[in-house]
Amino acid sequence: MSLAVTNIGELVTNDPHLGIVHDAAVVVDGDRIVWVGPSSRTPAADSRLDADGAAVLPGFVDSHAHLIFAGDRAAEFGARMAGAAYTGGGIRTTVAATRAASDDELRRNARRLVGEALRQGTTTIEIKSGYGLTVTEEARSLRLAAEIVEDTTYLGAHVVPAEYAGRADDYVDLVRGEMLDAAAPYATWADVFCERGAFDGDQARAILTAAAARGLGLRLHANQLGPGPGVRLAVELGAASADHCTHLDDADVDALASSDTVATLLPGAEFSTRSPYPDARRLLDAGATVALATDCNPGSSYTSSMPFCIALAVREMRMTPAEAVFAATAGGAAALRRTDLGIVRAGARADLIVLDAPSHLHLAYRPGVPLIRTILHDGVPQ
Ligand code: NIG
Ligand code: FE
Repeated sequence: MSLAVTNIGELVTNDPHLGIVHDAAVVVDGDRIVWVGPSSRTPAADSRLDADGAAVLPGFVDSHAHLIFAGDRAAEFGARMAGAAYTGGGIRTTVAATRAASDDELRRNARRLVGEALRQGTTTIEIKSGYGLTVTEEARSLRLAAEIVEDTTYLGAHVVPAEYAGRADDYVDLVRGEMLDAAAPYATWADVFCERGAFDGDQARAILTAAAARGLGLRLHANQLGPGPGVRLAVELGAASADHCTHLDDADVDALASSDTVATLLPGAEFSTRSPYPDARRLLDAGATVALATDCNPGSSYTSSMPFCIALAVREMRMTPAEAVFAATAGGAAALRRTDLGIVRAGARADLIVLDAPSHLHLAYRPGVPLIRTILHDGVPQ
């Protein structure tokens, strides 16, 4: 079945950068875009959706989320807003709740969040493990994630679990050995939280090298809470993405700018931990590819909203609305090494959002307002 979306006032194609076309139409057939051109020359299709002059964009690609968990940490958030610091230590609270939850509870919670994200325009989302931290629990988290999404990330190296306190290197051996064996069948990517208090550069390298040898793509939580080796390690290992990038020195910026490792910025985390935002302007001016993602998790960033992240990026990180929209769509696709997402052209996935607004500018101009009128996901109106 084909569907023509006609009368598009402003079409963001990202082909090339933002690639705005006015008075446009898009025809989809099955789960693919088959035609893009002027609305006046729309070819015949089985059905028609009149955008009525609104803006149409590729669906958001959220390349960083932690959705397999149980419980929440609202009290921890409350304490932070009263002055407590974020250290990542609360991860262990969620690990305990997740281990105690049934498959169905974890599945329902993840599906609830994926649905919440979709209603806000996210048509692709990545899901990490990392709240199981045993061989069986990490495999379970990834098996459940793989039921829901295509991009699943093994994050057995999120923190050293309590039962390995003082034996971090034994835990690293488990993560790159038996746990990786159990997780790999369900994972497309591997990730490590490379940070003081979590895993250092040598440990991260050992884990990521083992994961790459198993055919997993690489990504890395890097330089979130302080400076460190994460970003340069991500670039050296050819990771698809270095995520957070909040504390960078000139060498980190240069490394990102001269590689195809995407700098994925997660402003929801700085918002929710009341921390300084990453300097997106510096990365963009240096020539790095920037993605925006939610980091949706119950601790440091409990938002599933890409429009909220776009608004933060524009207001707090000196990105233009065009740069932020590109980063939330094409940037996310680059961070997942996908060429058929985040772009509107024949052959690309039929993931489109129709805004209740005439321009992409409104996503940052009208923060907090539900602006997604219609979503086409895999060609199907939602
Ligand atoms: O990306 N930084 C490490 N992991 C998550 C936080 C997880 C948590 O606090 O539960 C993050 O911010
Ligand atoms: Fe994260």
